Amino acid sequence: MTIEAKIEAPKSDLDKQKAYAESLSAKGFKYTFAVGTAFVESMRNTHYKHTGTALDELIDNSIEAGATQVCIALGYSGKSTATPDALAVIDDGHGMPKGMLQPAAAWGGTHRHNEENRSGFGRFGFGLPSASVNQARRYSIFSITEGGNWRSLTVDLDDIAAGKYTDNTDTVRMPDEVEGTEPPKWVMEHISEHMPGGKLTHGTIVLWEKMDRIKWKTTKGMRDNLLQHFGVMFRNYLQQVGLKFDGTSIEPLDPLFLTPGFRYFDEDEDRAKALEPAEIEVKSKRNPDKKVKIAIRYALFPHRFFSRDKDKDAQHGNSNNRFKVANDHRGVIVCRMGRQIDVVERTPWRGLEKFRNDDRYWALEIDFPAELDEEFTIANSKQGVVMSDRIWDLLQDAGVERVIRTLRKEVSAMQKADASKPEDPEKDRASEASMKESEKFRRKRAGGTSAEREAKAREQFEQYVKQKAKEQKRPEETVRNEAQEEEAKHPYKVEFASHPNAPFYRVIQRGAMKVLEINMSHRFYTDLYASAAANRFLRAGLEVMLFSVGEAELDALGNQDKSNFYHVEKIAWSERLEVALDVLHRFGHDEDVVDSEDDNIAAE
Ligand SMILES: Nc1ncnc2c1ncn2[C@@H]1O[C@H](COP(=O)(O)OP(=O)(O)OP(=O)(O)O)[C@@H](O)[C@H]1O
Ligand SMILES: [Mg+2]
Repeated sequence: MTIEAKIEAPKSDLDKQKAYAESLSAKGFKYTFAVGTAFVESMRNTHYKHTGTALDELIDNSIEAGATQVCIALGYSGKSTATPDALAVIDDGHGMPKGMLQPAAAWGGTHRHNEENRSGFGRFGFGLPSASVNQARRYSIFSITEGGNWRSLTVDLDDIAAGKYTDNTDTVRMPDEVEGTEPPKWVMEHISEHMPGGKLTHGTIVLWEKMDRIKWKTTKGMRDNLLQHFGVMFRNYLQQVGLKFDGTSIEPLDPLFLTPGFRYFDEDEDRAKALEPAEIEVKSKRNPDKKVKIAIRYALFPHRFFSRDKDKDAQHGNSNNRFKVANDHRGVIVCRMGRQIDVVERTPWRGLEKFRNDDRYWALEIDFPAELDEEFTIANSKQGVVMSDRIWDLLQDAGVERVIRTLRKEVSAMQKADASKPEDPEKDRASEASMKESEKFRRKRAGGTSAEREAKAREQFEQYVKQKAKEQKRPEETVRNEAQEEEAKHPYKVEFASHPNAPFYRVIQRGAMKVLEINMSHRFYTDLYASAAANRFLRAGLEVMLFSVGEAELDALGNQDKSNFYHVEKIAWSERLEVALDVLHRFGHDEDVVDSEDDNIAAE
């Protein structure tokens, strides 16, 4: 699937800007900030999730101006580079023509308004001023077009508040463009170091100062969060535009981890599995003759995709770099023209109302064209989408709901398969170790080891050796020696087998080894032991519990009454437990349990 990451040719875009700026000046347009100084202050509260999403607006503008390189540079007033107090977004796009800086700095000023063909990111004429005042109390635009000089304009909220822009009619005026002012020295230095050719003959700089609302105060904090953020948001554009933050090139990052060469794709040997991508053809409501497409991608991640040490869960310091990305993308990842906008965390579908922890093991992305903005309720801060009922229905018709359910089942199956694996094949399981360790405190039972028990243990051992030798096509003698060695090392051992309709566990003695065999066909295994809600500790606890009961059962060998008691009771417990666990789903708090039949999960 190719995502259309094409923006209009820069030349025609610049021409459109010229025409727009000329039409405003021909009308003798007077710039105001709507009514009074309060307007700008209240615009500061336009919702941006964080500094990164506000900066996305400026990067959008740069890409649309045909930039090949965008640099986000940090400025410092003192010697220390720990905490920046200015930031500049520098691009080598076509720049803004004379007369364009005032509308660009004001709300609603755009040459893109009501374009017949929505082919770019911008639409509202809000991005630049909204993002700027949201983060800083002072913003400037410096721009240069080919063959021209630098022009600039600065808006300072403190000056507005002090009445410096207010004229005698009480109108707050946009300051004029100033001809011939170069950007600050540190910005020029950044340009010579990081922009292609070391200088700008055309391009735009948006400078933020008096930054009072930056989410990450330190340079390090910004780097830690923003390199990844921009990599995700602009992943489909970073081949055509170079993007640097504080001198570091941003690598594209696909949160589906499906794109070779992108960040974390080959973090380790594990790879994401792509499911068949899909496309939905949609009639545009704006242009009923026009048909546009929504593209859909799916990915499924292997069970230990987020673990550093692949023998352990991605917990307690064992999670790799993919983990945070996947956690931030649980839900429907929504892109608009290949640029990520939002992750929708709820669906209207039964049982899928809310995404859960385990949903990090799969990912879903939908990419829509700006033609469908109304259907996705794109707001002017482009921070989020609310999909219309029609879009949800179209997604459902295209199989999205069904695929999500299938993906959840696959995740659940992976988890179940994994639950039976030991944490570290070299070491004892926690339960085996604790049974061994606690054995010395065991009370001596009357009867001790009966002859019957010993005979049975030998028989089990011989049977095991014969079977293994046959399976592995190896001499019995070799297998026997290995088994004896194993037996000496592991007096307790957990094994798994599938026996439909049999009790949920059994404990047998094989030579000197006590073996707990958990029945994978019983609901005890599928719904409790191997459920997503059970962690390693709980599983080890269940093993210890069954070992303890099972050991008493072994001790009963040779005592007919006791032996019969266990035999009969265990069958009764197992049957009762199978049914009760089935019913438990109706009453239990299983919202965090990945159930194999998701349709059964009651709507919240
Ligand atoms: N980096 C830039 N290079 C050239 N022109 C720019 C740049 N940034 C902004 N502009 C001009 O300023 C105008 C205002 O930008 P702003 O981001 O406020 O609105 P927009 O991009 O048109 O719409 P939206 O509110 O959807 O972002 C743009 O329409 C464009 O003409
Ligand atoms: Mg914009």
